[in-house]
Amino acid sequence: MQTLKLTIAEQCVDRLRTLNPDGAPTAAELAAMLEYPPDPKMGDLALPCFKLSKTMRRSPVQIAAAIAEGFACAGVERAEAVNGYFNLYLDPAWLGENVLTRILAEREKYGSSDIGAGKEVVLDYSSPNVAKPFHIGHLGTTVIGHSLKCLHEFVGYHCTGINYLGDWGTQFGKLIVAYKKWGNRELIEQGGIDELVALYVRINNAISGNEEKGIPADPVLGDEARAEFHKLEEGDEENLALWRWFVDISLAEYEKTYKQLGITFDSYKGESFYTDKMPAQVEKLREQGLLTLDDGASIVNLEEYNMPPCLILKRDGSTLYPTRDIAAAVYRKQTYNFDKAIYVTSAGQNLHFAQWFKVVELMGYDWYDQLVHVPYGTVSVNGAKLATRTGNVVLLKDLFAMAIEKVRAIMDEKNPDLQNKDGVAEAVGVGAIVFNYLSNNRNRDINFILEDALSFEGNTGPYAQYTYARTCSILEKAGELSCDAYTVTAPEEADLLKVLARFNERVMAALEEYEPSYIVRYILEVCAAFNRFYHNCPILTAEDAQIRATRVKLAEAAGIVLGNAFGLVCMKKTEKI
Ligand code: ARG
Repeated sequence: MQTLKLTIAEQCVDRLRTLNPDGAPTAAELAAMLEYPPDPKMGDLALPCFKLSKTMRRSPVQIAAAIAEGFACAGVERAEAVNGYFNLYLDPAWLGENVLTRILAEREKYGSSDIGAGKEVVLDYSSPNVAKPFHIGHLGTTVIGHSLKCLHEFVGYHCTGINYLGDWGTQFGKLIVAYKKWGNRELIEQGGIDELVALYVRINNAISGNEEKGIPADPVLGDEARAEFHKLEEGDEENLALWRWFVDISLAEYEKTYKQLGITFDSYKGESFYTDKMPAQVEKLREQGLLTLDDGASIVNLEEYNMPPCLILKRDGSTLYPTRDIAAAVYRKQTYNFDKAIYVTSAGQNLHFAQWFKVVELMGYDWYDQLVHVPYGTVSVNGAKLATRTGNVVLLKDLFAMAIEKVRAIMDEKNPDLQNKDGVAEAVGVGAIVFNYLSNNRNRDINFILEDALSFEGNTGPYAQYTYARTCSILEKAGELSCDAYTVTAPEEADLLKVLARFNERVMAALEEYEPSYIVRYILEVCAAFNRFYHNCPILTAEDAQIRATRVKLAEAAGIVLGNAFGLVCMKKTEKI
């Protein structure tokens, strides 16, 4: 569509130059002004001319009229000036010859580009904290992060996905104490991460007490935990072995969830990896005079930038979350020489990222402006905030299991002979959750209603996957079929092609705003257009052979675009449901 927009724009600019040689924009500028009118009666594309009025020194009505006068361009069936708008109607035959042909030729590449060729993007996402629950709050970083990776790869960037595991910190001291006091190796080997989380919750409750239940706080346990962590930092063999074991158990569990989502990472270098890389950065900060002492702690004062200070070292000299992020960024720049480093976390960490990005800038690293924080809104479940303490956590694996089970039950009833039921149930169940989640703009705080996410009515993931399966079934029934020219006759066919033609533009918009939700909404548009076509146009029963062939190819093209779009938002395709 961009090519057509540019061709149209070039012609418009020629006419504008005749009207006023000095006031015309460039073709690229004008192409960007072309809009898709919400009401198709106003055309398939429209140029609102009031935007040009000032530089052109003409009224919008005069401008639109001048452009429309005798306008002709391949791909445009008709064009007219209406109330200061220049409206264009696309030619169905052109859509068949160009859009359809192109989709069928480019297939899994359709919608992609190579604008990112030669550039490196590093993405830090998912990054759960070991031995803490991997819950629905992590769904955002995991699926938004992976979608952003797929989107960048789709337009040619080389990407490195990093799972920056929260595998270091005082929580390990607590866990070691808890394990030594109450732990049982066999139980943990069987129960996995759930057992670790239970130990972690138990020790936290013991340390801080519970007024309601009349359990007094036990500060001694807190001291013991700090001592165990200190031993770990000093390289104590026993504690190191325990730590490694805790990390492995947690990772094995995360992997199951990643596999269900089709996610893999290129690096699992977690926080622990940066232990020996921090001193050099702290030293640099000190040499540059950026560190100040505040009640014994070392901080970078950010008052000038309207931010609270960035904490670098605690009073006891131990490092902090920002210290590690700074060291990790320097390491990643050296290792990957990224053009962009993206971090996906909840908006709760906005200040943290703003602070340490600023510190990186103050340190004189000229790549500070290549760091991008992509935040997302909070998730509450059925109206209540997530809280490990009150037990209001929904683990991702449980959520997925519920969805899979529900899909399985429906399939047993409706399609009991389906092959590979487990695989399909997993793809559709997990897809339902992901689709539901990603249909929201990422910055919105969302209230996750389990029932809605697991409902398969309306604009849901299962509906999208069902539509994809429908395109596959048409192809299968049609068998081999050749077609050297397409005949687009029905308006539903042209409408579907117009939607399919916009794929790359949606990809670009999603990239520009780091918004995978645009792709989810686009999928729904394709489904709606395809289903209108499917219900109104006989496909396999169309009498005219060329019309039949065109429609089968159109179904194939819709399937290709849906499949490509699914791949960008962690959704798996299933040919049968
Ligand atoms: N582990 C952190 C958490 O769960 C997220 C890490 C995000 N990435 C980063 N480089 N700080 O809150």
